[in-house]
Amino acid sequence: MQRIDELELPYLPMEEAAFASNPWPQLAAAREAHPWLAKAAFGFAVHQFGAMKDLLWRDEYLQTRIDNVLEVMDADGTEWGRFEKYSLLARQGAPHERIRSVLAPAFTPRQANRHRPLMQGVISELLDEWVPRREFDFEEFASNFPIGVMCSLIGAPRSAIPELRSSLEALGLSFSMDRNHLPALENAMNVMNGFVQRLVAERKAARLPQGEEDLLEILLDTVERGDLSERELFDLLIFLFVAGYDTSKNALTLLMSVLIDKPRIYERCAEDKAYCRRVVEENFRYLTTSTIPRTVVKAITYRDVLIPEGTELFFPVSIAGRDPTAYDDPDSFDPGRKEIKKHLTFGMGGHICLGQFIARAQIEEGLHLIARRMKNPRRTGPSSWRPFFGVWGLKGLPFAFDPADLKEDARLDA
Ligand code: HEM
Repeated sequence: MQRIDELELPYLPMEEAAFASNPWPQLAAAREAHPWLAKAAFGFAVHQFGAMKDLLWRDEYLQTRIDNVLEVMDADGTEWGRFEKYSLLARQGAPHERIRSVLAPAFTPRQANRHRPLMQGVISELLDEWVPRREFDFEEFASNFPIGVMCSLIGAPRSAIPELRSSLEALGLSFSMDRNHLPALENAMNVMNGFVQRLVAERKAARLPQGEEDLLEILLDTVERGDLSERELFDLLIFLFVAGYDTSKNALTLLMSVLIDKPRIYERCAEDKAYCRRVVEENFRYLTTSTIPRTVVKAITYRDVLIPEGTELFFPVSIAGRDPTAYDDPDSFDPGRKEIKKHLTFGMGGHICLGQFIARAQIEEGLHLIARRMKNPRRTGPSSWRPFFGVWGLKGLPFAFDPADLKEDARLDA
C-alpha cells in the first residue's frame, strides 16, 4: 500500500483558463499516467468515473469543509461566511438530515412533474419577450429561466429577477478562492437577505388557502412546528436560489451549444418530448457543470492507496461522462444510448442534488419550447469558458435564429 502523497501522479491544471476551455487532451494524458488519480491545485483530483462512484457516497470519510475556503477568503465574521458555514452542503449527520427531510417532500419526482405547467409558463413568457429580437446572448436569456421558476415555486414576483440575477452571478464566485470578490459576495448576501425576509413577512401576513400551498407554505408550516428556525428558513431560501442558478443556466447553455451543431436532433426536440428528455439526459453525461470538493475526515484506503485525514479531493463529475472505461464511444453524443441515466451530474451520497428532478423537468420543458420557437440556431460570435472549479460552463453564447412560424406551431399543438 502507498500513501497518496507518495505516488507519482500527473498534474491536472484545473485552475488554468486553458484547461477550462479544453480539458480533454490533458485529461486523456492524465488517464494514461494514472487510471484514477491526479495531483491538482489545493489537493488531488479523482478523474475516473468508477473511482468517483465508489468514493463519493462515503460521507463518513469525505465531507465538505468550508473552513479552509473561509480562511483563504479571509471571510470569518462576514455574513457570506456565516451563510456558507451553515449551508446544507457544509452540514453533516443529524443536522443535515433534519433540513434535508424538511425539504425532501417538496422535491420528489412527482412534485417536480406537478410543476411542469408552471415551468412551461415561465419559459413561454420569456420566449414571448426575447424571440422578437432574433439575436441575443443565449446565456443571458437562459439565466432568467431558473430564477423565474424558483420565484414561481415560492410565490415571489418575477419583477425581482434582475436584482436577484446580479446577486446570484456574484454568489457564483463563492468558491473562486479569490478574496477580491468578498465585497461583491457581502453585497449579494445583503440583497438576498432583504429579498427573502420581505417575502416571508408578506406571506406571513397573507397565507395561501389550503389546497393552494406552495414550497414557501410548506417551509413556513415547518417553522411553526418548530422543526426549522426562521434564520434557517431565510438561509434555505437563499441556498435554493444559489444551488439552482448557475448549475441550471450553464447546463441549458451547454446543451444549446451542443445542439447548434446537431440540427436534426434539435429539430426533433421540438416535436417529440420523450426524445427531448433523452437528449437532456445524454447531455448531463456529455457536457456538464460541477466539480465536487471533499475533505477526507477519516483516513480511507482505496485500491491500495492510503488517503490520510486532511487530504483535499476534487471530483470533476463534469468530465466523468467521457471516461472510456465507463462508456462505449464516450465522445459521441447519442440520445439513443442504453443506460441513459448513468452519469454523476447530480453528485452522489448524502448530498446528492436535492433539486435534480426540478432541474431535469425545467431543462426538458425549456428545451422543448425553445426548439419550437427558435428555429435554425447559429452562433454569431465566440464564447469563452467559466473557471473549471466550482460550476463550469460557457461565458456567453451569442447566437441568432429564425422565429418559428406560429401557424406551423399551432399545427404541431393540434
Ligand atoms: C442542472 C442543474 C443542476 C446540477 C448540475 C446540480 C448539481 C448538484 C450537485 C453536483 C450537487 C452535490 C454537491 C456536493 O455533493 O457537494 C448538488 C447539490 C444540491 N442541489 Fe443541485 N444541481 C442542479 C440544479 C439544482 C436545482 C434546480 C436545485 C433547487 C431548486 C438544486 C438544489 C440543490 C441542493 C439543495 C443541493 C444540496 C443537497 C445537500 O447538501 O444535501 N440543484 N447539486
